[in-house]
Amino acid sequence: MENIRLLFIDDEVNFRETVVKRLAKRGIVPEQAGSGEECLSILEKRDIDVVVLDIKMPGMNGIETLHHIKEKYPKIEVILLTGYAATQDGVEGIKAGAFDYLSKPVELEHLLSKIKQAHEKIRRMEEKRREAKSRARMKQQMITTERLASLGTLAAGVAHEINNPLAIINESAGWMELLLKKEELAEMPRKQDFEMALDKIKKGIDRAGRITHQLLGFVGKSDSVLSEVDLKEVVDESVQLINREAADKKVEIVQEVDPSFGTIWSDINQLRQVLINLLTNSIHATGSGGKITIILERVGEEVVLTVRDTGEGIPKENLERVFEPFFSTKSPGKGTGLGLFVTRSIVEKLGGKIKVESRLGHGTSFFVNLPKYHEIKEELEENDHFDVLGIINKGLP
Ligand SMILES: Nc1ncnc2c1ncn2[C@@H]1O[C@H](COP(=O)(O)OP(=O)(O)O)[C@@H](O)[C@H]1O
Ligand SMILES: [Mg+2]
Repeated sequence: MENIRLLFIDDEVNFRETVVKRLAKRGIVPEQAGSGEECLSILEKRDIDVVVLDIKMPGMNGIETLHHIKEKYPKIEVILLTGYAATQDGVEGIKAGAFDYLSKPVELEHLLSKIKQAHEKIRRMEEKRREAKSRARMKQQMITTERLASLGTLAAGVAHEINNPLAIINESAGWMELLLKKEELAEMPRKQDFEMALDKIKKGIDRAGRITHQLLGFVGKSDSVLSEVDLKEVVDESVQLINREAADKKVEIVQEVDPSFGTIWSDINQLRQVLINLLTNSIHATGSGGKITIILERVGEEVVLTVRDTGEGIPKENLERVFEPFFSTKSPGKGTGLGLFVTRSIVEKLGGKIKVESRLGHGTSFFVNLPKYHEIKEELEENDHFDVLGIINKGLP
């Protein structure tokens, strides 16, 4: 039998002890007491599911006690015991929130089944509460995801718009740099100050450029070109691109490729960006002497690309957040917090999934599952249209 935490309150000691003994024989061992006051003091200390409560008691009577119980512990169910033919009391009790009432003399089987019913009601209510809670959580999650998606789209659009003025600033800065090198300005006053300012401008452009580049990668627009891709080649190319950075940090990169690994139908440029983002993160996280392993396997109709490092790992509380836009633990000069956001967007756009596992202090693995064949979904193409007004009308997060 399920564990029912029962409290039995009656001022008639003999009656009470007899019932309690018989209940115990049936697997329910109740707490017991002889007054309403004692009942309340026990409830302060113990977790109780069901109270069986005599109505006629000296001091605080059953109905008063019931009021106190329902006010303070609304989840507790109360079964009242009324005197012989005192139906009126019982009805009053139900109005005050009692589960039910039984008239004395009470038959044990009857009492037992009422207790079980009351307990069942508590269980059902608990289940309902849990369901409501998980529904609310799911809804919240959906809202968050939606907001992140529209934020990303907006950010990508802004990046696109910023790219043009950024190019003009960049060109002008380059022109000024050339100008400063000319003979006619050799004796220019405070020339060094100008050069220093120019240097700052160039660094700023660089940083802004990196951000817009990442954001635009997220949109991917028309460059979403599908063709037969040899992932092994993409891995080789990407490794070549970041090899220098890895060598500088004395981080070794090894590849484990399933020899039967063929080609997949996907977007080569976007896959390259995925790899470079993952590898760059791994290099950042891995100290001298560390190792990065790239694994390519075929699993049924899917391919799995794993990037595993022996780096610092990701704390549990950050694991869910690393894919959020602008989430970064790096200094502003080093991280944009967009790498994994963009990476996930690309992978999902290509019909795949990305997962992360990490042990703090030991290393991190990112798993990218990609379908062998992928048809671009219409809805994903629709997402490519940049609709600022729509987003603003919907309301920003
Ligand atoms: N391989 C990894 N090892 C440890 N932490 C990582 C790794 N990859 C990503 N992270 C964490 O996730 C954060 C977000 O990554 P990302 O979106 O690429 O942005 P960024 O690299 O610009 O900070 C990083 O700042 C880092 O804290
Ligand atoms: Mg990154």
